[in-house]
Amino acid sequence: MSENTKTVTIDFGDGRVAKMPVLEPVLGQSVIDMRTLGSGYGMWSYDPAFLSTAACESKITFIDGDKGQLFYRGYPIEQLAEQSTHLEGAYLLLHGELPNKAQKEAFEKSIKYHTMINDQLVSVFKGFRRDAHPMAMLTGIVGALAAFYPDAFDFKSPEHREISIHRLIAKMPTIVAMCYRYTNGLPFMYPQNSLDYASNFLYMMFATPCEEYVANPVISKAFDRILLLHADHEQNASTSTVRIAGSSGTHPFSAVAAGVACLWGPSHGGANEAVLKMLAEIGDESKVESYVAGVKDKKYRLMGFGHRVYKNMDPRAKIMRTTCYEVLEALGKHNDPLFKLSMKLEKVALSDPYFIEKKLYPNVDFYSGIILRAIGIPNELFTAVFALARTVGWLAQWQEMIGEADLKISRPRQLYTGYSLRDYVKLDSRK
Ligand code: ACO
Repeated sequence: MSENTKTVTIDFGDGRVAKMPVLEPVLGQSVIDMRTLGSGYGMWSYDPAFLSTAACESKITFIDGDKGQLFYRGYPIEQLAEQSTHLEGAYLLLHGELPNKAQKEAFEKSIKYHTMINDQLVSVFKGFRRDAHPMAMLTGIVGALAAFYPDAFDFKSPEHREISIHRLIAKMPTIVAMCYRYTNGLPFMYPQNSLDYASNFLYMMFATPCEEYVANPVISKAFDRILLLHADHEQNASTSTVRIAGSSGTHPFSAVAAGVACLWGPSHGGANEAVLKMLAEIGDESKVESYVAGVKDKKYRLMGFGHRVYKNMDPRAKIMRTTCYEVLEALGKHNDPLFKLSMKLEKVALSDPYFIEKKLYPNVDFYSGIILRAIGIPNELFTAVFALARTVGWLAQWQEMIGEADLKISRPRQLYTGYSLRDYVKLDSRK
């Protein structure tokens, strides 16, 4: 960020005129520095849902929604998806640079070393109903992890910070797989540290103690790509939640548990689950047009379409679309009726003026749900898989925030429109 000589003038209409500096980003939109508005002029800005507010300075991820670009530390997502892996992407997001050979090996070794969870957490799982939603369990289990690692509170120490980050990245696949196994009454499978990150997750999901399991390499690669594509997405709702929670100095695992809770919502991480529900509701290719007519009548939204930031094709969606074809081909499921239905829906929506005018393109969730389903991951687990991937971004953003020299607790203001002062009414006198 650099401050230039440009200012924006605010005339308060009472003789006071404020000159607010304009901060210039490396990429993206200029930002008016409003920090003195409250203390200097006794006014606040009003921006519900942060439509026009930069809530922090960050060097991690950049999105250009109009151009459909996504960069991790300056590297375009397309290049990373083609040539990198989720763990290498994690190192990049956390450290700012791609690792050299030795750094890569050391990072991967550390992640593998921490994949197991404390056995007491199994008892925490046993307290849940078998039909509990995986996201409800995941929120609880990630929160419970804080109880097992009190040393992580000392996150000003670089060693503690690093080990907490590695622990959570390592344990998330184990925990997400356990959510699935618990729901289905299957025995928990211990992680296999000889496997790569994605294959290990697939092993913990689908292996049984009775027979050998080898993950299909096409599926492992596709799954790893899904993780990489979802690893970070700058200041989205769950990441902002992690930052706000973390700004109080809370335990990092508690801050991430707050992020998991936020991600669950259907407008955010719950969208890929909602896509599959929608496709099941449409049921048949012949009903696509009438369903789209209902969307245009605003009876419901087309799930997996539209994005707060992307007003062009989400670059991740383009990659996912290709991956989707690869996976279905590898599994011999390219004639899957639900897939054919989704392709028809995509075609109809993309050629309809309603969606064109509103710049509503398929987002990453439109395709990821189809891939995950083909792999055998049940709908209810989709958002938990998203959380597993996004853990990297949450931690990278948390780490960046707590490293700020003048870190302050986040405390938004409000435009109060409730009652003004009034006196307490005794119970007998109330209507
Ligand atoms: N289907 C139909 N119409 C839509 C959709 C949709 N999916 N998304 C937006 N619109 C319409 C709105 O009705 C609105 O129309 P109007 O101008 O006539 O009132 C206009 O487009 C703008 O909508 P907003 O809600 O203001 O757009 P916003 O940027 O706030 O919403 C959001 C973004 C929440 C993602 C929205 O597009 C949506 O609900 N999509 C479906 C859910 C989804 O796929 N979420 C995943 C997001 S990606 C992620 O989290 C990884």
